Amino acid sequence: MPIIKRFLTPDDLGKSLRQDVADGLTAFPKTLPPKWFYDERGSELFEEITRLEEYYPTRRERAILTERATEIASVTGARTLLELGAGSGEKTRLLLDALSGTLETYVPVDVSGDFLASAADQIAAEYPGLRVQAVVADYERHLDQLPAGPRRLIAFLGGTIGNMEPAERVSFLGGLRASMGEDDALLIGADLVKEPQRLVRAYDDARGVTAEFNRNVLRVINRELAADFDVSRFEHVAVWDRERERIEMRLRSAQAQTVRVGALDLVVEFAAGEEMRTEISAKFRRESFEASVSSAGLGIDQWWTDTDRDFVLSLVRPSL
Ligand code: TRP
Repeated sequence: MPIIKRFLTPDDLGKSLRQDVADGLTAFPKTLPPKWFYDERGSELFEEITRLEEYYPTRRERAILTERATEIASVTGARTLLELGAGSGEKTRLLLDALSGTLETYVPVDVSGDFLASAADQIAAEYPGLRVQAVVADYERHLDQLPAGPRRLIAFLGGTIGNMEPAERVSFLGGLRASMGEDDALLIGADLVKEPQRLVRAYDDARGVTAEFNRNVLRVINRELAADFDVSRFEHVAVWDRERERIEMRLRSAQAQTVRVGALDLVVEFAAGEEMRTEISAKFRRESFEASVSSAGLGIDQWWTDTDRDFVLSLVRPSL
């Protein structure tokens, strides 16, 4: 039976949602943090995104993992696998299968307790010899609480590293570095710079699934914070920021409108055409990736890309 440790309660989550929404909707320009996309419907929509023809990152990362799984196992000899932001399981299984020779413990870490509990149960049932120790935590806050142990492999997949602001990324990687032993390794999945047109299509698909996903954050706020966003009056926008080499997702107010957030006693005015940022997705080159990890005391050990060089899986280690 899996063990579950909780550093976050549903109450903590409610508090940080209120804080994030209060801060974001009173800022200029307005923002909403991406963490809140993933309620049940949001998670389903994201699963649908990962199957879209236009959204290549998930397929590319899976292909690299499949190709390199044995090598990952032989160069890390991992005894513990920590997965930050435990996904829906397919990538996890690829790693667990490849690491079966040395692996003793699997530690999925996620902010969503329900999701984590059922994922951990499943894995435990499928891998009878494996110790499964799930941790409900915010990996931006509870890094030092994660189980220690020799030869840990920390997996941070899906390109989530790109969803952090540069300063946030450096402090996150620095925190990780501080929690790592000399023989630990970190496996990071990151999306690479490519033609802007392909990038924009990946975040603005023809069927509008991404648009629905983006707008879902408004539904979450309506439900959780008694707000009255009229979801149909916000348009999905994805733009490529050439200078910072990142995609920005925004919601554009189709008309002048007033929104009330009951639980915060907040009244928010939107101008016609006003854009509110909901997500950034930075794309890397080897140089920009290296700069990020080395400022946190980490160095690139392996750089595995797919044949089209769309995506990278990089194994990084504490630099001496
Ligand atoms: N981490 C994913 C990415 O950056 C999340 C994502 C995909 C996303 N499509 C989106 C977030 C659209 C907001 C809106 O690729």
